[in-house]
Amino acid sequence: MKEKIAQIEELLVTELAVCDSLQALDALRVKVLGKKGELTALLRGMGQLSPEERPVAGQMINEAREKFTAMLEEKQALLKAQAQEAALKRETIDVTQPAAMPKAGCVHPMTLVLNEVVDCFTGMGFEVVEGPEVELDHYNFELMNIPKNHPARDAQDTFYVDDNIVLRTHTSPVQARTMLTRKPPIRVICPGRVYRADEMDATHSPVFHQLEGLVIDKDVTMADLRGTLNAFAERLYGKGITTRFRPSFFPFTEPSAEVDLTCVACHGKGCRVCKGTGWIEVLGCGMVNPHVLEMCGIDPKEYSGFAFGIGIERITMQRYGIPDLRLLFEGDVRFLGQFR
Ligand code: PHE
Repeated sequence: MKEKIAQIEELLVTELAVCDSLQALDALRVKVLGKKGELTALLRGMGQLSPEERPVAGQMINEAREKFTAMLEEKQALLKAQAQEAALKRETIDVTQPAAMPKAGCVHPMTLVLNEVVDCFTGMGFEVVEGPEVELDHYNFELMNIPKNHPARDAQDTFYVDDNIVLRTHTSPVQARTMLTRKPPIRVICPGRVYRADEMDATHSPVFHQLEGLVIDKDVTMADLRGTLNAFAERLYGKGITTRFRPSFFPFTEPSAEVDLTCVACHGKGCRVCKGTGWIEVLGCGMVNPHVLEMCGIDPKEYSGFAFGIGIERITMQRYGIPDLRLLFEGDVRFLGQFR
């Protein structure tokens, strides 16, 4: 009996030495201690022993069982520890590795400037209104005092959709739409895209952006216009920036003016940006022509008003020193990524 147990122990020791997985270990346990295992077979064979031998043999088998169980458990603990270590190694995360950052977009410089300009005017009590880009000739021209065959139509190289429909050449038709649907006092700005049949070059584009302003009330004068635009210039560019009015002509305003702002680059001393003049031309304006008021259902004897149209591209280019208009339309992320 002793010998048989020793044989089993020997077998167990050799097999434990080469056992390298928990599965194999379990199979080994079954082979030795299981119901049909080797040690159990010894237990079954006890019937052939004499009554005196039985308790001795039984004790030996029980001791062997305890010993083998301990050996198996020790190996199991070892294999479990190894498995855990391997898992830890496999799942290691390098917390010092720089994260893969998602690429963040940024706001287009035109949008940055437009938002600022809109803020300037909403801060003064103006309300933002919008109108269609595909516009009736009636609003774009007729109500703006530009009848058919008027030379001003040629100056605004128009994209015609058909005889009566155009791509709006300016934001001024929104003035007409506003006057026809609201009662004074009116104080609105209308930002938006406008279209003219120009070839694209460093200073021209067939699509660009304007911001129209319109104020209608009792006793509105050109001094109000000047004051509003001066306030706008200071809000946008800071103290010391002012406006210069030069006489001009627009069919829908009378009198009319082109407005220059103090050159922000040189503060009026004269530089490359302002071509030595100290001034930058940024908008057209004037007192709303009484004929326009009349056509839009407002009594010019009771009310007067002013209007202005600001070129957003020009302000953006000046603001950021952008030399070529095309940069604003090409969508090159190497250029746009600079405006964070
Ligand atoms: N609509 C004019 C243009 O596009 C600008 C303007 C607007 C002038 C309002 C005077 C008043 O040239």
